[in-house]
Amino acid sequence: MLNLPFLRRRRETFGLDIGSSAVKVVQLREGGGGHRLVALGIAPLPPDVISEGTIKEPAVVSDAINEAVSKAGVKSKDAAIAVSGRELIIKKVQIPEVPPKELHDAVQLEAEHHIPFAIDEVFLDYHVVGKHDGAMDLILVAVKKSKVTEYVGVVEEAGLSPAVVDVDGFALGNQFELNHPDERGEAVALVDIGASTMKTNVLRGGTSIFARDIPFGGNNYTQAIAQHLHIAFEQAEAAKLGKDVGIGWDAIVPALESISRELSLEVQRTFDYFASTADSERIAKIVLAGGCAQLPGLADYLSSTWGIPVEVARPFQRIEVPGAHTETVAAAGPALAVAVGLGLRQAGDKGS
Ligand SMILES: Nc1ncnc2c1ncn2[C@@H]1O[C@H](COP(=O)(O)OP(=O)(O)OP(=O)(O)O)[C@@H](O)[C@H]1O
Ligand SMILES: [Mg+2]
Repeated sequence: MLNLPFLRRRRETFGLDIGSSAVKVVQLREGGGGHRLVALGIAPLPPDVISEGTIKEPAVVSDAINEAVSKAGVKSKDAAIAVSGRELIIKKVQIPEVPPKELHDAVQLEAEHHIPFAIDEVFLDYHVVGKHDGAMDLILVAVKKSKVTEYVGVVEEAGLSPAVVDVDGFALGNQFELNHPDERGEAVALVDIGASTMKTNVLRGGTSIFARDIPFGGNNYTQAIAQHLHIAFEQAEAAKLGKDVGIGWDAIVPALESISRELSLEVQRTFDYFASTADSERIAKIVLAGGCAQLPGLADYLSSTWGIPVEVARPFQRIEVPGAHTETVAAAGPALAVAVGLGLRQAGDKGS
């Protein structure tokens, strides 16, 4: 989505998802009427290395990037990366219709009213989502330059070059478009629940009409379990993943349930806000991605609370996966959604 001026056109880009709990590398190749997975690598990150969307320990992140890239066996240096979090502002705005050549300046002027940062502190992008009665609806995307510099820095430190800088939520959308080419009618809400940030992106007809990131994720579950049972974060995390660490599932259910209620309220609040910005737009279904989407019972709980279908994303549904990767793909499942979306990007393209 962001077409940053200093980035050059390259070939053979691969997806590099720098998540707060793991770095994921996905390289896809197009041919024979479809996409094929050619390289996949995941390297875990200890908690607090990336905290509240800020890279606290850049060297550790660069090492994890190198580890994921070498596990994947990727030869290319050109990575498509993405940013997420609170320094990212995505807003739908309306401006009077202007001729295309005046649009850029009009957007700059309008953006100043909507962005809580100085305009020269941000990279700005936009896309037109509709025109009516002499007005244009735009989605404005602004991200703090310092945030981009931070992520670009760890990628360069790893010896790679960031050929594309996207937004997690839009990468999620790209992934969905590939896997669900037929769903173009009603609004679908994509929600990626990672370890620390929840990214939402509402798509209609292949266009993003709303997006927002919320600081809430799998770590909230793990912390609640740790607190409730007076155990360390690592042990609580293992228990949450169903590993045998001497803690029965029943013991963690109360903590899980209370966080799921909070999560449901957070998402509800976001969608209420969406409803207030979009005239009578109805969300027909929700697709969950991110590692947390695998939490047993979460999709069903959210579906019964909100009364709409909630599915779990299958990012490789329409991608050919070679035998060597089937196990990793199955285990990581929806956690690879953003990496797949980034793997679809090519340097120089405009994304969605
Ligand atoms: N089977 C599972 N059950 C419950 N939670 C899971 C499961 N698998 C992964 N998770 C949780 O998903 C989270 C990691 O998901 P993901 O890889 O999408 O996050 P991330 O991209 O590293 O983080 P973020 O995008 O927030 O920076 C962790 O909190 C992890 O505990
Ligand atoms: Mg993530």
